[in-house]
Amino acid sequence: MSAIADVLWQFAKWSEATSMGRMIRNSEYAFPMIEFVHLAALAVIGGAVLIVDMRMLGLGLKKTSVAQLAKDAQPYVTASLIVMLVTGVMLYSSEATKCYASAAFWIKMVSLLLAMLFTYTVKKASAAKDLENKLVGVLSIVLWFGVAWGGRWIGFGG
Ligand code: HEM
Repeated sequence: MSAIADVLWQFAKWSEATSMGRMIRNSEYAFPMIEFVHLAALAVIGGAVLIVDMRMLGLGLKKTSVAQLAKDAQPYVTASLIVMLVTGVMLYSSEATKCYASAAFWIKMVSLLLAMLFTYTVKKASAAKDLENKLVGVLSIVLWFGVAWGGRWIGFGG
């Protein structure tokens, strides 16, 4: 096992042994309730990301400028992302060794890192120029789809 894989495995075992991980795992209602919040925040981030990506593609709310739409959607993206990260870590802590062994989980984590970087750098700068940019719109949709696909596929044992 490589050194990084071993550190990630030790971290997964440690996460599951935390009082939060044990509490969620041993509770009948905690996991579904936290996942409900995870999914509700997913609806908000999905909408706030897509409304700007569609505008970048020349679709959707064309009466509003790209820059204005991105500015109005930004607080929803950031707030729902914070909720996704907090609830995601809680869900992870209850089944960390399952996530460790899940290819879908690692595809999700890599997609999430790239999607966050892209959203707060390239996409933000492009929107500020107030220009439709189809490549930026498509790349953003592909990256966030990777996150959502990975999240759903963990549950299928992928
Ligand atoms: C914006 C970021 C995120 C998005 C869009 C996202 C999306 C999703 C989706 C679509 C599901 C499937 C829910 C279902 O239908 O069962 C899910 C579940 C899950 N997510 Fe996330 N997620 C995000 C962040 C995170 C983070 C940061 C973590 C962990 C560090 C995480 C861990 C999990 C876990 C453990 C599950 C449950 C999988 C299972 O069913 O066993 N998520 N997420």
